[in-house]
Amino acid sequence: MTAGAGQTGVGAPAAESARNGVPADSPATRADAARTGGPADPSGLRQLAVDTLDANWEHDHTVPSRTLYPHQWSWDSAFIAIGLAHVRPERAWRELASLFRAQWADGRVPHIVFNPALRVGAYFPGPEMWRSADVPGAPAVATSGLVQPPVHALAALLAYRRAPDPAGLAALRRLYPALVAQQRYLADRRDVAGDGLVCVVHPWESGLDNSPAWDEPMAAVPAEAAVMSAYRRHDTAHADAAHRPTDLDYARYLAIVAAYRDHRYADRDLAAGHPFLVECPLFNAAFGAAEHALAEVAALVGGDPGPHRDRAAQITEALVRRLYDPDTGTFQPRDLRTDRLVGARTVLGLAPLILPDLPTRQVDALVVEARSARFGVARRMDRPLPTYDRTAPDFEPLRYWRGPSWLNIGWLIRRGLLTHGHPELAAGLRRSMVGLVAGAGCHEYFHPDTGAGLGSPAFSWTAALLLDLLAD
Ligand code: SER
Repeated sequence: MTAGAGQTGVGAPAAESARNGVPADSPATRADAARTGGPADPSGLRQLAVDTLDANWEHDHTVPSRTLYPHQWSWDSAFIAIGLAHVRPERAWRELASLFRAQWADGRVPHIVFNPALRVGAYFPGPEMWRSADVPGAPAVATSGLVQPPVHALAALLAYRRAPDPAGLAALRRLYPALVAQQRYLADRRDVAGDGLVCVVHPWESGLDNSPAWDEPMAAVPAEAAVMSAYRRHDTAHADAAHRPTDLDYARYLAIVAAYRDHRYADRDLAAGHPFLVECPLFNAAFGAAEHALAEVAALVGGDPGPHRDRAAQITEALVRRLYDPDTGTFQPRDLRTDRLVGARTVLGLAPLILPDLPTRQVDALVVEARSARFGVARRMDRPLPTYDRTAPDFEPLRYWRGPSWLNIGWLIRRGLLTHGHPELAAGLRRSMVGLVAGAGCHEYFHPDTGAGLGSPAFSWTAALLLDLLAD
């Protein structure tokens, strides 16, 4: 099926629910019905979000989407926990606990945890491509070997703040050492340049898979689109191919996975030959924000906030030193294979706004960038934030991370604007995000001009973050 592709108000065939064996009056069915142009009033929107999350709940975690992403994804679970805490706090903690049960012995939190109950081929690339079982230190359950932006400490802190009860405090106490180990893995094993920043080894680790930010580094990865004729992509069976990464992107994604896997996901010697090595502003902003959050978590669970505050300050300093470009007034990824900042101006550059200790000079520059015609935050109060410079000749409003609006990115940038004293811009961004869901339902992403729902319908983090926005 093509999932609401490019047209507001087009939902999945009713057969989708029947195929999943879901009864007619279930939350899944109500979510299906309601997503076709969502309700405008806050209580209707809230119900749509709760129904979407209920329909995507799977024993101990929430699938991002029943069709496109039927397993557990790392940063999805973090955003989902923030929303669940408002309505199903016990599930919020189970969501995070199940993800961290799949943490590797070295501290890495895998970006996908595969549900063993699903048929082979339910997602590509599946466990047979990653082969985590062959690697010492991997968990019993099959996982990928990559990571995703570490937004989990922030999510755990916010989940507790949204539902501050004794059960939540106990869950936070249990999670704290795992969150610390996650940070330690990134600091000790992924600081490839030795500059205090984390290096991502695959575009999937950035979370913004086919962002124009990766075009330059990806161009150096040897692969041909024809390789994909040997595989069956799962995503293009469930979403319009024009809204997804290309076959050439996928050929390169697989080449990078194979290179890392064949090194048994070892991080030493990456600089010697790994084909993709990039310092990403969003990933590193999340890395720094995690230390700020851990300082607060430590204070709540009887730990020492001091070392977390020190590390947070070091990360912010390194980000500004290594990734801020005074000529463009924004942050840019650094390609470690060429030691150059990449040129594309993407929304990744705005992400350091989430750091409370970002210096005023950079905050002011990012606010100018956010308000410019490139991103247009609050130029017109209802204009959605795109993921790429609207004025760029290769801006693609329909294709995944090359233009469309995503709620997780808007939610992060809004948080940054509030942190740095721009409530009016934050309010505009909030209105635009709520408006997107009111217009098209809980889609995965949205056309940044028309608001049409794109990608998967009934997408979990859209629902979860909507709940958080509505509660604010
Ligand atoms: N985001 C990737 C996908 O599209 C995987 O993490 O499948």
